[in-house]
Amino acid sequence: MDNSGTSIPDTIAVFDTTLRDGEQSPGAALNIDEKLEIARVLEDMGVDVIEAGFPISSPGDFRAVQRISQEIRNCTICGLTRANRLDIDSAAEALQSAKRPRIHTGLGVSDVHIEYKLRTTREGALEQGVDAVKYAKKFVEDVQYYAEDAGRADPEYLYRVLEAVINAGATVVNIPDTTGYTSPGEFGALIRGIVDNVSNIHRATVAVHCHNDLGMATANTLAGVRNGARQVEVTVNGIGERAGNTSLEEVVMAIKTRRDLFDLETRIDARRIYPVSRLVSQLTGIPVQPNKAIVGANAFAHSSGIHQDGVLKERTTYEIINPHDVGVPDSEIILSARSGRHGLRHRLAELGYALDDGQFEKVYQRFLKVADKKKTVDTRDLEAIVADEVQMFFEETYHLEHVQVSCGNYSIPTATVRIRGPNGEIFCDADHGTGPVDAIYRAINRVIGEPNELIEFSIQAVTEGIDAVGRVTVRIQADEPVKDNGVERRVFSGRSADTDIVVAAAKAYMFALNRLIAARREAGGTRASE
Ligand code: KIV
Ligand code: ZN
Repeated sequence: MDNSGTSIPDTIAVFDTTLRDGEQSPGAALNIDEKLEIARVLEDMGVDVIEAGFPISSPGDFRAVQRISQEIRNCTICGLTRANRLDIDSAAEALQSAKRPRIHTGLGVSDVHIEYKLRTTREGALEQGVDAVKYAKKFVEDVQYYAEDAGRADPEYLYRVLEAVINAGATVVNIPDTTGYTSPGEFGALIRGIVDNVSNIHRATVAVHCHNDLGMATANTLAGVRNGARQVEVTVNGIGERAGNTSLEEVVMAIKTRRDLFDLETRIDARRIYPVSRLVSQLTGIPVQPNKAIVGANAFAHSSGIHQDGVLKERTTYEIINPHDVGVPDSEIILSARSGRHGLRHRLAELGYALDDGQFEKVYQRFLKVADKKKTVDTRDLEAIVADEVQMFFEETYHLEHVQVSCGNYSIPTATVRIRGPNGEIFCDADHGTGPVDAIYRAINRVIGEPNELIEFSIQAVTEGIDAVGRVTVRIQADEPVKDNGVERRVFSGRSADTDIVVAAAKAYMFALNRLIAARREAGGTRASE
């Protein structure tokens, strides 16, 4: 209670692991600049802790944690480790410049993890965990301990582990439902059991980290919060290992919308939710399903006549959240070629894009081309244009200057491409294929010659209508050299949007190839095996 007699809700810390657990989604690999861009947006939206990576896993992850530690000043920056000294040394070094560094160490607590993964005993695992915390404490004050697979562990053993690691200096104890196995009732009871039975629990913050294998990650996280957890571990759009992690937007908006129920709050500026969702989707190449809560394209769409009628009479008849409150832009505002530079600049600023003059000019030139073809350009078209022209955080080695295809039911699909190489040299080549896209990709491969396998190709209309811009997303898989002459299969995504879907397909493939080449350059040719 404050002195006016009103109760002041507790604050829940938001720990975002989009850049670590989220990036473990197949094909979500982000480069350092992309991670930094996401970290900046997370900082602006008020996230408390950013888990920036797993520093020992690769030189790229190490450098990403290092850069984020140098540049992000308003969040705690966290690096993940296993419970061993080499991992902790690497995290401590990567976090050196962080204003508020945190080492996140830990190991399994379920018998299945202890016996089959760690090949040790309960006592051995407990000792290893305590040693890791004591060692991490030599470098940083703030040490978070994860009790991996806590959802399937014996609670009595879990209590003993938590008590021991808190005595060793852990400031946060993280209770992961690593396999997404528990139900909200069970997970809530597990957290309540910890709060009631771990004698020194008041010296640490209890964190919850849930996976979505049975679609219960958000419900479990909220059950944890209602039973005493004060840190939630989340990712933007719920991306992450397998079925993903708890999604940031769902937890934040549940706590905000049902304040009557939770009597809690977070520091998140909810108006940043939609822009960060779009950014993460663009950069990871992972689309947001249309019916996704809060950020899906249909989250605020009312299709049945009865619902539309209700919303027109009174928005709250069918809407529990005002879309503006989570930053969903007004798609009714449209522009045309006549809107001019001033109109476009104004609309981009309204949408939250801060572009420098060079970036704006690229967007404007592209906007004119789109406006010429489809007469009106709405918010979704603008998002696609900005993603294409500005949100490319790597150096383009090869640039597609020209693509031309001939196809039809009585001809052999044939493509010609003209590509500018790294030293400005021009390559022209042609090939045929089973269809126009196959022909283009073969022609590009003849020029660039990077062996890879196309594992996903998808196309989506950005807006309604026959003249809509089409967005193509591709994923390619390639063997990357790793230390000790090994190879590792890695996935790179590419995307592009154009009113001509064949052009979008060509540019998306070029995007993925350039990203592959840039990642190889960034890793200095070889990555350490994870
Ligand atoms: O799911 C999990 O258990 C994790 C830990 C490393 C925190 O991601
Ligand atoms: Zn996890």
